[in-house]
Amino acid sequence: MPADATAAVGIPCRLCHGVTEARSDGNGSYTWSAAPIPLPDPAVPAQVEAHRARVATDVLRSAALCGSCHRSFAGPEIGSPHHFNGIDDLGAFGTSAFGGAGGESLDDDPTPSTCRGCHMPRAAASHDMAAEDGSIASHRFAGAHLGLTTSQAQHDAVRARLADTVRIDIPVGTVDGQPRIPWTARPCAAARG
Ligand code: HEC
Ligand code: HEC
Ligand code: HEC
Repeated sequence: MPADATAAVGIPCRLCHGVTEARSDGNGSYTWSAAPIPLPDPAVPAQVEAHRARVATDVLRSAALCGSCHRSFAGPEIGSPHHFNGIDDLGAFGTSAFGGAGGESLDDDPTPSTCRGCHMPRAAASHDMAAEDGSIASHRFAGAHLGLTTSQAQHDAVRARLADTVRIDIPVGTVDGQPRIPWTARPCAAARG
């Protein structure tokens, strides 16, 4: 662990909540504002609004915000002689049926979603001042990996995120009235849907 304590902070609140522009080229391509955050008196609506305007810009709820970090590459910009794509969740999302790309599904398209829609579900938070109807958007960012932390609550959230999420479309044709998936010779028990 580097000696500088700020190295252990990770992605702090002020990072996402201070991004004013996010670009799609990845590797952390965003503009961040270091302007002070006005702390509101909750009883004064104008102050709450000023606070909100500073910490919840239009960029906050965009896929571009998430994608500015969750698309990575090694290229000449960082001393690599060639361009290598790294992990690219923004690309995977944009070319998926969830991101509105048609042709990815054989059956009916799934309900479109967003990064937030899948990774920031509503979570009970009755005491949070920002709660609406007793909930806020979860900040666990449950994804795929248990190794990032030993927190049981986080592991539960990741398992819940992974449960029941895979959908595989298999084309089924008919030969002599029998359903067949194209690459098998024998009839199969597959049915549409
Ligand atoms: C400033 C860069 C940055 C931004 C912006 C950002 N992330 Fe992340 N995200 C990270 C890093 C770094 C990690 C790994 C954290 C760790 O190692 O503990 C991470 C972890 C995650 C994980 C867990 C991945 C896993 O392996 O299980 C998910 C899911 C996730 N982010 C989703 C999002 C979503 C959704 C957004 C937008 C609302 C977002 N992130 C915005 C940097 C970012
Ligand atoms: C339809 C739901 C859905 C949407 C929309 C979605 N994700 Fe995910 N995401 C998942 C699931 C399920 C996993 C775990 C399975 C996997 O890794 O493929 C995951 C895994 C991840 C991971 C961890 C794996 C990795 O590649 O490091 C990150 C980070 C992540 N998503 C970020 C994002 C970002 C950023 C967006 C928007 C650009 C997004 N996701 C949109 C469902 C979704
Ligand atoms: C990785 C990016 C990211 C980080 C880090 C982050 N937030 Fe957020 N936050 C978001 C996004 C995106 C939303 C909007 C969620 C929505 O509306 O679906 C949000 C929403 C909120 C809200 C409004 C509640 C709601 O239901 O929308 C509050 C309050 C908040 N964040 C506080 C915090 C605090 C406090 C921290 C640090 C402990 C923090 N955030 C760290 C991305 C982030």
